[in-house]
Amino acid sequence: MTAPIETGLLRIRRHLTAMGAEALTQFKGSYFDRRLQSRLRVRGVADPTAYADLLDREPDERRRLLSALAIGVTSFFRNPTAWTRLGALLGESTTPVTLTAWSAGCATGEEAWSLALLLADLESRGRGPIDWRVEATDLDERSLEVARAGSYSPRAAADVAAVLGPVPGDVSSDRFVVPEALRPRVRFAQADLTAPAPTGDHDLILCRNVLIYFTPAAQARVMDHLLGALRPGGLLMLGKAELAAFDLLPRLALADRRERIYRRIA
Ligand SMILES: C[S@@+](CC[C@H](N)C(=O)[O-])C[C@H]1O[C@@H](n2cnc3c(N)ncnc32)[C@H](O)[C@@H]1O
Repeated sequence: MTAPIETGLLRIRRHLTAMGAEALTQFKGSYFDRRLQSRLRVRGVADPTAYADLLDREPDERRRLLSALAIGVTSFFRNPTAWTRLGALLGESTTPVTLTAWSAGCATGEEAWSLALLLADLESRGRGPIDWRVEATDLDERSLEVARAGSYSPRAAADVAAVLGPVPGDVSSDRFVVPEALRPRVRFAQADLTAPAPTGDHDLILCRNVLIYFTPAAQARVMDHLLGALRPGGLLMLGKAELAAFDLLPRLALADRRERIYRRIA
């Protein structure tokens, strides 16, 4: 009885690989199994083989599975105190006038737009970088479509207002739409964090609530790529529940321990 189930799982993994999302199979076992089981339940299929048959037939189910596994929970200015601290660090005179930032694992874009709103707010007050751009990447193309549209529920406006005060976006309808002026400065693209990152010149990298899902081996690989993409002196902000592994500490100094912000020193 076990053979067909194993075959089904292999076929499911092959579908994910074909979509450039093999990394999702490197999530800690419990996350992968739970999310997959929940998809099986939603679709009313009994076992992985029947579900793999469904994936063979339905491209849309393949995209839904990827999104379900990706765990794209996010919000504007998630963990507000971390953003307040980041704003203070970026407002320091040592921050480069030209800044390239990367939101790695941006989900539906709230993190990338939050950073853009924060940088624009600093700029309007004559602080922080004056020439900046934000690159944002994720595995999940469905999430990236939402991110590019930049249109969110009114709840987003409240989250923004809690950190920045009066909201600069368009809240005239029942949506929060990011300011037009920010759009040319924020770019979204699909990329896998477990694959080497192409550039090494970022001044700031945000990788929050992504590493927690990975096995320790995959975490180490992602951290290596992130540090390779960060220039010496650049800032790395992790999620509230994430600490850089001990063996990385010679390359990183703590800029703020509580808020999980590091500075690359080597
Ligand atoms: C929980 S969300 C975090 C979103 C945001 N960073 C935040 O903290 O609110 C995790 C995101 O990481 C993405 N992700 C997971 N593994 C990835 C990988 N190997 N490469 C790129 N993105 C990945 C998922 O698709 C998901 O959108």
